[in-house]
Order: sequence, then structure tokens, then C-alpha cells
Amino acid sequence: LTRDAQAADRFGFAQIPTNTSDTITLPKGFEWEPVVQWGDPLFSDTPEFDDATRGTAASQARAFGDNNDGMSTFTKNGRTVMAVNNEYTNRKTIWGNRPEGKPADADDIEKGMMAHGISVFEVAQDTAGHWQVVKDSDLNRRITPRSEIALTGPAAGHDLLKTDADPSGTKALGTWNNCGNGETPWGTYLTCEENFNGYFSAADEDHAVSAELKRYGISSKDWGYGWAKVDERFDVSKNPNEPNRAGYVVEIDPFDPTSTPKKRTALGRFKHENAEVVIAANGKAVVYLGDDERGEFLYRFVSEGTYSATGDNSDLLETGALYVAKFHDDLRGEWLALTPDTTGMTEAEIRIHTRQAASSVGATTMDRPEWVAVNPTKVESYVALTNNKNRGKKPNKGGDDTSVNGPNPRDDNRYGQILRWVPDNADHAADGFAWDLYALAGNPDVHDDAYAGSENINSGNMFNSPDGMAFDSTGLLWIQTDGKYSNEGNFAGMGNNQMLCGDTTTGEIRRFLVGPKECEVTGLCWSPDRRTMFVGIQHPGEKGNSHFPRGGSSVPRSGVFAVRRTDGGLIG
Ligand code: FEO
Ligand code: CA
Ligand code: CA
Ligand code: CA
Repeated sequence: LTRDAQAADRFGFAQIPTNTSDTITLPKGFEWEPVVQWGDPLFSDTPEFDDATRGTAASQARAFGDNNDGMSTFTKNGRTVMAVNNEYTNRKTIWGNRPEGKPADADDIEKGMMAHGISVFEVAQDTAGHWQVVKDSDLNRRITPRSEIALTGPAAGHDLLKTDADPSGTKALGTWNNCGNGETPWGTYLTCEENFNGYFSAADEDHAVSAELKRYGISSKDWGYGWAKVDERFDVSKNPNEPNRAGYVVEIDPFDPTSTPKKRTALGRFKHENAEVVIAANGKAVVYLGDDERGEFLYRFVSEGTYSATGDNSDLLETGALYVAKFHDDLRGEWLALTPDTTGMTEAEIRIHTRQAASSVGATTMDRPEWVAVNPTKVESYVALTNNKNRGKKPNKGGDDTSVNGPNPRDDNRYGQILRWVPDNADHAADGFAWDLYALAGNPDVHDDAYAGSENINSGNMFNSPDGMAFDSTGLLWIQTDGKYSNEGNFAGMGNNQMLCGDTTTGEIRRFLVGPKECEVTGLCWSPDRRTMFVGIQHPGEKGNSHFPRGGSSVPRSGVFAVRRTDGGLIG
């Protein structure tokens, strides 16, 4: 196809080549601009981002957080609010003004903490059509690791959730490492707690952590955030139950800034990637959930109640059944119910030690399940299995076998794959499904075996480590990558991380966007008129080699970017 003929087809754009530039690259006929970046104030009493100091705890608490990931827009009564996860912070960036990129004092640690959580803010277009944060909107809000959050559902009040500060086991403080997201048909935002473990430590590094906590990666050392130095609840030797209060999906009402977010324990506790919600044929709310860790599992929640387009759905995620996926080699699969009968655990224990419950029923170990995306035009689902260098070499932390299996067919899987499943009877609540691999990422320039990838992968569109995924309203699957950007060896010709677009009927995949240096492309949502696509760029320059997006010698900053057609047409 010629470039113009390509542009006129199903995709509406011509594929772009890879590159290693320090900018966003788009096809001809598209343009981008920043909407909000790390440290941009949400309130006029807060100073603008300062490259020299990179802010303070106080300024950060009222500004857009760092390392944005999943995000959604919600529109009501003509107002649009954006909810964005701020997953974590690159210590050498946020503390880049300090020796060795380490916090110099308690305020530095607190600033790092305040850069985590969720940023909720109103956005509006100015007269020239540029999307901007509406500073001081009554909807603007930061939810941080210090915000009050309710623990709800089957695990609420269980002894394992009780701490000295909260003997009720129902009032958690904060949410952090919020990775992917979800949105419900009843207008709430779901934020998913992923690598919550890396923030806990023990004053005594020899402190022995329980086997239950080890399964979740808790140890006596944190990843350098230092939170236990400013807040004792992050010291696991003093508060061994505090980690049990993290690792959930949290539901937020984006139009009520005074509402208390709710941790939905019914959806299980693990390193939650995203929460893809779909209403099944029988009216139940189904939520698909990945646990992003090597050799962990793919889950499904099915609500007890049914969705009502006119009624109150506020407790639909409070009660329901939790399942884990088992894949058979004959391209069939089933959802195994996690119940007291199948696991020998109580309903509450299943929601707290969900990984152990899933291991006990023989679930299929996966190559790091990242985002799940459900096709709005067809009854089918997709999950990005990002990579797994341990496949075929090492069991998961629970000891489950991770030899190759049907959906995870390659040892030492550095490239990842995208798995598709089609529920029986076109019903997301059905317990059986058929599966296949939509794409096996690889490098056909370097390999001529399974590592070359599936037939729909070629020199022109190759990528590694699919991660963020979302369907647009037309049924095109957008695929974002969080992979190796060395552009050498196994990854030669792949350039920077990118966003591609897949036609799930033909299998064709085309590159749409290339991100700046050392970034991950993650987070995708649309304006209500679908003429703007919002794309997240996370941690540009995570190894110190970017000045995106402002250039010069500026500090690189994660942010949300508006992508539009130059002719103002629909995009997705
Ligand atoms: Fe935060 Fe699994 O990505
Ligand atoms: Ca991810
Ligand atoms: Ca990832
Ligand atoms: Ca990331």
C-alpha cells in the first residue's frame, strides 16, 4: 500500500518507523502537546515546578504526581474530570538535586511519598482547543499514601488487616504504586495497587519476614524510598499486618472530592495491574485482573448483584466470586472458582492471600499479566503477557512450576505475547473459554525461530514487552510497550518504547507512536468527543538521558500528552 492508501484504511494512519529520538513521534497528519506534567500545580496557591529543587513535600501534595500510568476521563454536566495514577517515582530524578539522588531529609522522603497516588482534576479546552488543567476546580484532588481509604468487602475487619493504629481493620491509610486502572459503567474510577511491597522495611535488617509476606515480595529492605523513616507503619517488624492492607483495587468517585475511596477486597490481593470491567450477558459486573509478577496468575471477578443502568451500583464490587484462569494445551481454558471448598481457606483469607489460594487450585502460571482489554465490539478479551526471563528456569515465589505451557510457550521469554480468549456462549460470566495467541512479539531480524515472533510481527512493526492495552470505540486495540530500548542485540531495530495499533480481525499491527528516550508509554484515554487521545509518557530519561518534554537542560518529566488529528477528525 502507498502511504496515502494506508492512511485511508481501517487504521486511519500510516505506520511510522522506530527511532531513538528524545521526543514523541507520530504519523503524518497527527500532532501532540503536553497537558500536565509531574509537579504541575493543581491549585493556584502552589508554586510552579522548580527545576532546581524539584519541589517540596508541601508543593508536591497539591501538584500532579510523578510517573503517571493508567488514567481515565469522566464527563458529567458538561465538565470533564481526569483521574490519573501516579505509580512511583524515579529516585534519581525526584532527588536529582541531592548527592547520589538520595533523600537528604525527611521533607525529601515525604515529597517522594506525595508524588505517589492519584491526581484527580478537571480539564477543559481553551478557545484554541488546547486541553488544560482547571486550577482550583472544586473537583481537583490528590489522593496520596496518607489519604483515608476504607477497607471493604469480604476481608474487611479480618484480624490480618488489624493494626495498632486501626484495630477495626477497616480504615487504611493511603494507596501507592497505582499502576493500571479501570472505569465502571456507573462512573467510578478504579486504581490498582501493584508493587506495594517495595515501600516496606524493618529497622533491623535481619528481621525475619513471614512466608505469607514473602510470597508478596515484602522484605526487611525497601527499594530506597525510606518511608519507614517518616512513618512507622512501613516498618514490618513493628506493623506486620500493614502490608496486608495494600495490594487491592480501589474505587473512587471522581465527581465527589469529599468521598472516601474504597479498597475492594472482593477483587483479591496481589500485584494488580489493571481492572477491566465489562457487564456480562446476565447483567453481572465482570472484572478481569492481572497479577504482574513472573509466574503469577490471571483472575476474574463476577459480582453477586447485577448492574442497573438506572439504579445504584455503588456496592457492586463489594460482593462476588473470584476466579483464576487455567489454560489447557488444546486451546480451551476455564475459570477456577476460589472458594472455601476449593482452597480450604476462608472467604477473607482468599481475598488476603489470593496468590496462595490460586496456587492451591492449580492455576496456570503466566508470563507477567499486565493489562487486560475487552473488545467493545465483540465478546473477546486480551491480556498483555509482558515477558518472563524465568520461564522454563525458575518456579514462581510460591514454588509453582513455570515450564513452558500453552499461552506461555517460550523459555527465557524476553519479548512477551498478547493472549486472547473468547468466553463460551458469548458470555463473560461463563466458566469456559477458547484461547489463542494474538501476537507473539519477537525480532525477525535477529532470530529465525520462535523468538522471531508470530506471523503478524515483522521488521517494520516489531516491539517487545507489551504492557498497556486498551480498545477504542471502533474496536482497534492500542498496545503500549514497557520494554528494552537498547536498540541492540535482541532488541536491535526496536527503538524507544512505543504505541502500536492492532486490528484484531486481520491480526495486522501497526506502529503509531514512538516515545522519547528511556520512557515507557503507558496510560490511554479519550476526550468525550473522541477528537483527542490522551497518552501517558512515564519516566523519560530513567537512566539520565532525556530532557523530555521541555528540552535544553531541563529535568525530564512524566506527563499526559494530547494527541489529535491535524484535520480535527476522530481518533479512536
Ligand atoms: Fe506497573 Fe505491571 O506495570
Ligand atoms: Ca504496566
Ligand atoms: Ca511493565
Ligand atoms: Ca512502569
